[in-house]
Amino acid sequence: MKLKNTNKAVQQYVASIPFDQRLYRQDIEGSIAHVKMLANQGIIAESDAERIIEGINSIREEIEQGRFQFKTELEDIHMNIEARLFEKIGDVAGKLHTARSRNDQIALDMRLFLKEETLKTIEKLRNLQHSLLELAEENKTVIIPGYTHLQQAQPILLAHHLLAYFDMFQRDKERFSDCLKRTDVLPLGSGALAGVPYPVDREFVARELGFSRVSTNSLDAVSDRDFAIEYEASAAITMMHLSRLAEEIILWSSNEFGFIEIGEGFTTGSSIMPQKKNPDMAELARGKTGRVYGNLMSILTVMKALPLAYNRDMQEDKEGLFDTVDTLNSSLQIFAEMVRTIKINTERISQAIRKDYILATDLADYLVKKGLPFREAHGVIAKLGEYAIAQDKNFHELSLKEYNNFSPLFIKDVYDITLESSVAARNIVGGTSPQQVEIALTRARKVIEEECGHPN
Ligand code: ARG
Repeated sequence: MKLKNTNKAVQQYVASIPFDQRLYRQDIEGSIAHVKMLANQGIIAESDAERIIEGINSIREEIEQGRFQFKTELEDIHMNIEARLFEKIGDVAGKLHTARSRNDQIALDMRLFLKEETLKTIEKLRNLQHSLLELAEENKTVIIPGYTHLQQAQPILLAHHLLAYFDMFQRDKERFSDCLKRTDVLPLGSGALAGVPYPVDREFVARELGFSRVSTNSLDAVSDRDFAIEYEASAAITMMHLSRLAEEIILWSSNEFGFIEIGEGFTTGSSIMPQKKNPDMAELARGKTGRVYGNLMSILTVMKALPLAYNRDMQEDKEGLFDTVDTLNSSLQIFAEMVRTIKINTERISQAIRKDYILATDLADYLVKKGLPFREAHGVIAKLGEYAIAQDKNFHELSLKEYNNFSPLFIKDVYDITLESSVAARNIVGGTSPQQVEIALTRARKVIEEECGHPN
């Protein structure tokens, strides 16, 4: 089992121990469940199982206290632990690997690891949603310009804007919960590829380790990494969402926008430009999105064209996955905390809507309600808008006579069109009216509260 080649470069090339030592806990839990089962089934003696379990537990302590010496020549976490077990309890250690292969062992470790991390990801997503929800609740009445093409388009409630991200992260959680179902499958018992010639009790091992199901095809179970790919794909989508939020935080906290201020602890200053408060956290999350996408492409490329069953290429699944898990979970954590420190600058927001051209659509809709076909109304307002801009006037600063030069349909009530009336008019499911947003906030609050009772 130990690598025969003593060439250092070769040893380092094949070794996964520098990174898979992270799986020591899962490896040990898996071994303990496996050994218990071997004893229950009479495959090994009860007393041997006890000695093995005792030995493994003391190895766990050594690792956790930093006393364990990981060896490159022992390649991976499985062989490092097993070799140490031999040192500790002698030849009986050799019974641990009965009815098992490193191929089903590593598949097990990875699944155990990812189950835990997926639950953490879901919880962190929920925390971020909670922060966004609170910011929305605290600023319920704030109207901001809504954008298309990054041009002011129509007024919307800030809360509506924030809840858009709430919905994105809700779908992300659903994606993670869904792939969790497929990660939650026990591969152990598949052996190297064909199953094992012992009367193992896979259901027992599944119960011991908290798996809901056992795999149904041994070849697939040792060579499938879909569960990791699904996590990485879901992570890529979540990072894409996070990166869009990051971009808006960066824009909105710029001098030009000035809509928000990010709390002290989440910005950095510049040593030569004292006026600067750089949104580094948001920029980094936007940047880190690249590596998460990259990790997804990398694992997809590793897996493509691999013949069944296990191939050593698959050892390349780990670093990318670990990196994605760490990048995603830390980004979500930072964002949940950073969003809590955001202050909304309502003054700057209303200055940004200095001119009420943002109400152009509402003026067109006004004419439609008076009987003009929409396309025609649109043409009228386009001309009216050009005129107002040329005069450097707001719409509401134009006289009724000026309005009537463009259409006789305008009467006094055209002055009732305001930012508030515009927002309130969009009172349909999914719209930005205060009434709809109130319903959406209540629904979001309920989602968070209900989920807090149930971990996923
Ligand atoms: N370190 C290996 C990996 O991560 C464990 C499985 C090795 N199996 C084998 N037959 N060499 O994939």
